[in-house]
This record gives sequence, C-alpha cells and structure tokens, in this order.
Amino acid sequence: MNNVMNAPLSVTDAIRTRRTVRHYLPDPVPAADIDALMELAMEAPSSWNLQDRSIVVVTDPAVREGLTWATGGQPQPQEAPVMLVFVAESQAWQEDRADVYEHAHRAGAWNAEFVSFFSAAATEFQRGLAERGLLREYAVKDAMIAAAYVMLAATERGLATSPMNGWDEEKVKKVIGIEDRPDLAIALLMSVGHPAEQRIHPGRRSLDRNIFRERYRRA
Ligand SMILES: Cc1cc2nc3c(=O)[nH]c(=O)nc-3n(C[C@H](O)[C@H](O)[C@H](O)COP(=O)(O)O)c2cc1C
Repeated sequence: MNNVMNAPLSVTDAIRTRRTVRHYLPDPVPAADIDALMELAMEAPSSWNLQDRSIVVVTDPAVREGLTWATGGQPQPQEAPVMLVFVAESQAWQEDRADVYEHAHRAGAWNAEFVSFFSAAATEFQRGLAERGLLREYAVKDAMIAAAYVMLAATERGLATSPMNGWDEEKVKKVIGIEDRPDLAIALLMSVGHPAEQRIHPGRRSLDRNIFRERYRRA
C-alpha cells in the first residue's frame, strides 16, 4: 500500500506517522522497494565512515520461521513478508578500508592529506575502544542509525515496520548462519510489510522530562 496519491511524505511527516506495527498482510513487498530501503540504509552515517554494519534481508518463509523461533514466537516474523537483521561488525575497522578512502578521494570529498590523517586516527580510536571493550557497542550504534533510516524510508513508501529487541542473539545468529562469528553482533531485527492493523500513537512524555538545555537536570 503506497501512501495517499503516492505523494512523498516529508521527513517530518514520516517521523510523526511511523508506528510500530505488529500485524501484517501477506502481500509481498516489491523487490524494488526493498532495494531502495537497503540503498538508503547504507546512506546512514557511521563512526569514522567505517560502515561497520550489514543487513540480512530475510524473505524465505523457512528462515522467517527460524526468526519466529529466535523471537520466542512474536507475530512479526510470522506475518511480515520481510524481516531485516541488522548485524554490527565489531572488527570491521581491522579490515582493509582502501576502497572507502579511494572513493572519498575520487569524489573530491577528502584530499590525500585528510585521508592519511583520518585513517590513522580511526585506527587509533578503534584501538582505544578495543582496550575498553567498547567495539561491539560502537558498531551497534552505527547499525541502529541505519535501522532508523530504514524505518523512516519505509514509512515514506507506505510500508510498516517494527523494530525488535525481543530475541535470543545466539538463536538469531544461528538462523542467519553466523553462529561461529564472535566478531558479529545482532543489533536489531525489523519487520517490513503492509500493515494489517492501524496503530494509534501511544504518545510521548512531555519535552520537559527529556529535553534539557546545557546541563542534564533530572536527579
Ligand atoms: C530498540 C527497540 C526494540 C523494540 N523491540 C520490540 C519488540 O521486540 N517487539 C515489539 O513488538 N515491539 C518492539 N519495539 C517497539 C516499541 O514497543 C515501540 O516503539 C513503542 O511502544 C512506541 O511505539 P511507536 O513505535 O508506535 O511509537 C521496540 C522498539 C525499539 C525502539
């Protein structure tokens, strides 16, 4: 279902109208829509442009059944035609990143001097994270920003989503074939599909409670 008259939603409208949808129609999501969502997800920023997150797109009913098992029987993987698994890659910084730097250089975004400073600084920063046991946490941050992009881009297309934390990580890893990869973490699962329910905005607390100026002010 596309949004009314196919008029694109503004980012503000996508933010305001997105709801977590738990029940879905069986109608498939066009491959072109999924491709567009994945491309937009990869536009999300990442720390040091490490792009240390990947997404596994699950449409095969047998794999979705596995995700149903991993989520303790939540309805989303049973009903939504598409499940996304956001994978955080805590060791991506150790891989060769020459392609990233070459691309930025060719695009005229980063000159040679900046590339050499940036790549060395990124490695040093990541080493510091490794010493403090924070690599996973930082890769998960990057994966979550990509997930937020997907939720809004899906809303723009009239598609519903549900972010999901309710799963067993070892089970999810097994289902997507990475049970032997301690370097990889599951950041989030997300269903995508055509809504079979209309959700009412559950509301948010007043801005006074969570927005502060200059200093955090809640005891
Ligand atoms: C990180 C994260 C994990 C969530 N996990 C689940 C989940 O496992 N199952 C579920 O039904 N909803 C899940 N939710 C949805 C929240 O319950 C929902 O976002 C919240 O109630 C506010 O509703 P709204 O998204 O419609 O504004 C999750 C949301 C977030 C942000």
